[in-house]
Amino acid sequence: MAHLDVLFPGLVWFLCLFSFLCSLPKATCNKTEDDRQALLCFKSRLSSQAGVLASWSNTSLDVCGWHGITCSTMSPRRVIALDLESEGISGSIPPCIANLTSLTRMQFSNNSFHGKIPSELGTLSQLSNLNLSMNTLEGNIPSELYACSQLQILDLGSNSLHGEIPPNLGQCKNLQEINLSNNKIQGSIPSSFANLPALRRLVLASNRLTGNIPPSLGSSPSLTYVYLGMNALTGIIPKSLANSSSIQVLWLMNNNFTGELPKALFNTSSLLKISFRRNNLVGHLPSVTATSPSIQYLDLRDNHISGRIPSSLGNLSSLIDLLLMENDLVGSIPDSLGHIPTLQRLALSVNNLSGTVPPSLFNMSSLTYLGIANNSLGGSIPSNIGYTLPNIQALILSANKFDGPIPASLANAYNLHMLYLNSNSLTGSMPFFGSLPNLEELALAYNKLDAGNWGFISSLTNCTRLTKLMLSGNNLQGKLPSSIGKLSDSLEWLWLRENKISGPIPLEIGNLKSLSSLYMDYNLITEYGMSEEISTKGDVYSFGVLLLHIMTGCSPTDKKCNDSASLHEFVDRAYPNNIHEVVDPTMLQDESNATEVMRSCVIPLIRIGLTCSITSPIERPDMEQVSTEILSIMHVASHMGVI
Ligand SMILES: *[C@@H]1O[C@H](CO)[C@@H](O)[C@H](O)[C@H]1NC(C)=O
Ligand SMILES: *[C@@H]1O[C@H](CO)[C@@H](O)[C@H](O)[C@H]1NC(C)=O
Ligand SMILES: *[C@@H]1O[C@H](CO)[C@@H](O)[C@H](O)[C@H]1NC(C)=O
Ligand SMILES: *[C@@H]1O[C@H](CO)[C@@H](O)[C@H](O)[C@H]1NC(C)=O
Ligand SMILES: *[C@@H]1O[C@H](CO)[C@@H](O)[C@H](O)[C@H]1NC(C)=O
Ligand SMILES: *[C@@H]1O[C@H](CO)[C@@H](O)[C@H](O)[C@H]1NC(C)=O
Ligand SMILES: *[C@@H]1O[C@H](CO)[C@@H](O)[C@H](O)[C@H]1NC(C)=O
Ligand SMILES: *[C@@H]1O[C@H](CO)[C@@H](O)[C@H](O)[C@H]1NC(C)=O
Ligand SMILES: *[C@@H]1O[C@H](CO)[C@@H](O)[C@H](O)[C@H]1NC(C)=O
Ligand SMILES: *[C@@H]1O[C@H](CO)[C@@H](O)[C@H](O)[C@H]1NC(C)=O
Ligand SMILES: *[C@@H]1O[C@H](CO)[C@@H](O)[C@H](O)[C@H]1NC(C)=O
Ligand SMILES: *[C@@H]1O[C@H](CO)[C@@H](O)[C@H](O)[C@H]1NC(C)=O
Repeated sequence: MAHLDVLFPGLVWFLCLFSFLCSLPKATCNKTEDDRQALLCFKSRLSSQAGVLASWSNTSLDVCGWHGITCSTMSPRRVIALDLESEGISGSIPPCIANLTSLTRMQFSNNSFHGKIPSELGTLSQLSNLNLSMNTLEGNIPSELYACSQLQILDLGSNSLHGEIPPNLGQCKNLQEINLSNNKIQGSIPSSFANLPALRRLVLASNRLTGNIPPSLGSSPSLTYVYLGMNALTGIIPKSLANSSSIQVLWLMNNNFTGELPKALFNTSSLLKISFRRNNLVGHLPSVTATSPSIQYLDLRDNHISGRIPSSLGNLSSLIDLLLMENDLVGSIPDSLGHIPTLQRLALSVNNLSGTVPPSLFNMSSLTYLGIANNSLGGSIPSNIGYTLPNIQALILSANKFDGPIPASLANAYNLHMLYLNSNSLTGSMPFFGSLPNLEELALAYNKLDAGNWGFISSLTNCTRLTKLMLSGNNLQGKLPSSIGKLSDSLEWLWLRENKISGPIPLEIGNLKSLSSLYMDYNLITEYGMSEEISTKGDVYSFGVLLLHIMTGCSPTDKKCNDSASLHEFVDRAYPNNIHEVVDPTMLQDESNATEVMRSCVIPLIRIGLTCSITSPIERPDMEQVSTEILSIMHVASHMGVI
């Protein structure tokens, strides 16, 4: 020993220390074995492992081969990553996991981890990626995490975390991404975040954050993505955010920001996407002063922005979405907007805009959505619109002062899904839209349109995706054609009230299986159903189902009414004693004599609906019997002043 002492004093000292350490309880001198024990401890705390951790066995020594484990290549082999994303694991995260002292990545996203985040994680000095998102973790974010000096990614999104954001997280100088979205976090945004030199993405959306945005955030040098939407943040939007030379995405929607838009908002050369939707912003839109503006998405919907739309907005030459709905904008729409070559969606509805629409707007081949409803815009719709807006999918011009005819060229706008021209002063005949296979919603109500020879209905039978047809409040005259029963199977709304339609309602209407909202009142319709080729028991069945749909107001999206049999059963179960539970409440809301109407009209009609939709055809009444009964109900109803 003396010999060695002389020759190798350092080695002896080391050996002594080594044997001392090995005498400590629990500690082994084999770091791989420590990691193995830590993993077994972790496993023992999980309540359900869905079989994925079968390889984690106390009889298997090679941890590096266990599922989800990555080890370092150098000896001693240490566990450096734990990848257990989407494995259906439930349980809590025990403190012993912090014994994996070489861990750099902990990826537990999308499991059912519950309980608290152990503060011991703060001792993982090598940890760079901590992803516990999409679990049901509770409690506070441990402030000890600040000690994770290598932390680059912190994703605790979509949990049930409470409390405030620990301000000392601003000391983790390597942080690049922070995602704490979808939790119940309170308090304010730490201004220390502005000092994180490498921070690129800050996602704090859908929490309960209050207070102002720290103005210093705008000077954060690497920040490109800021998502603070769906909180209760207040104060003004700091000028610095608009002036940042790095921020590209600025999502601040659904908060309570007040004051004016930053004057330099459109002087930016870095911002690509801006949403300030649903705040309390006031004042005017600033002018565009940037020389090469990069903004692609601008959403200022649902604020109180006033004044005119500056013509310079047309200088936002990369814009794809311009959404200014629900503000207090006045004046005319600038012609310059029609010259933005990339514009696809333009939403200006619900403002106080007036004048005529600049022709350039109806001449944009890029446009897919044009919404200018609820303004005071006038003039006629250009006759060639169906050719000049070749990609239009939604054309929403409702509630304005448009006059003249509906251009027949719209029948060439092949991509049209939604056409809303209701509540204007349009004249002429209903157009033929059978060439529009994608048409889903057609609203032409409250204009001055006539039915022509009703051929538009058979044309519309070509539109197999039609779900809403709203034609109320026009000058439709004469009899409804039986082709109405050949309209799309998916038709949910058929609105024909306040017209001058007369004669019988074609029984074929009973074929419209998806119908949930049928308005035909304020017409001169005489009786149900007497067209010629009626009275097969099949027709009676469809009629019965239709009647039940009307009386219950039950939508086909509702499980209990999505097929005829379950609708019948649903109503039958309530009939007659609990019938008020299933009747469409809007049906009786204006009736002074509700009890009487219920007794003399609603219950008898429901009874007819039930007998007609009985499963066995033999038990169904025939149509003649049904129409007699309905006529007598209508007789009673008219005496009561219901119809
Ligand atoms: C350390 O422990 C592991 C098992 O955890 C074992 O495979 C390895 O051989 C041990 N190394 C030494 C040097 O004992
Ligand atoms: C391994 O674990 C099982 C149950 O988890 C236990 O019964 C057994 O004693 C353990 N074996 C060793 C060698 O630790
Ligand atoms: C979450 O995990 C489940 C399986 O447990 C999987 O079906 C689902 O797609 C995953 N979701 C995400 C967003 O990764
Ligand atoms: C492992 O972790 C537990 C709990 O944090 C601790 O009590 C124990 O001493 C640790 N074991 C080792 C070997 O470090
Ligand atoms: C966390 O993991 C989820 C699931 O893999 C992933 O979608 C998400 O991007 C990760 N978070 C970060 C910040 O990388
Ligand atoms: C943030 O986390 C949430 C929840 O895990 C996730 O849905 C979202 O995609 C993440 N967002 C970003 C920008 O990483
Ligand atoms: C915006 O930034 C420029 C330089 O990038 C600076 O000169 C100017 O003062 C800043 N303006 C505001 C309002 O912060
Ligand atoms: C937003 O602020 C206004 C005025 O300061 C206040 O009346 C309102 O309650 C706030 N709304 C929310 C959701 O905090
Ligand atoms: C616009 O930005 C430039 C630099 O990008 C700056 O010089 C100028 O002062 C800014 N103008 C306004 C009105 O903020
Ligand atoms: C911006 O728009 C205005 C008004 O449309 C125009 O006069 C001006 O030349 C444009 N400026 C630039 C830099 O394009
Ligand atoms: C119905 O559509 C077909 C092709 O989808 C078309 O050939 C036909 O002309 C259309 N009919 C009407 C009435 O527009
Ligand atoms: C209510 O109904 C009764 C019986 O049908 C009728 O005599 C009476 O006039 C009705 N009252 C009102 C207010 O409509």
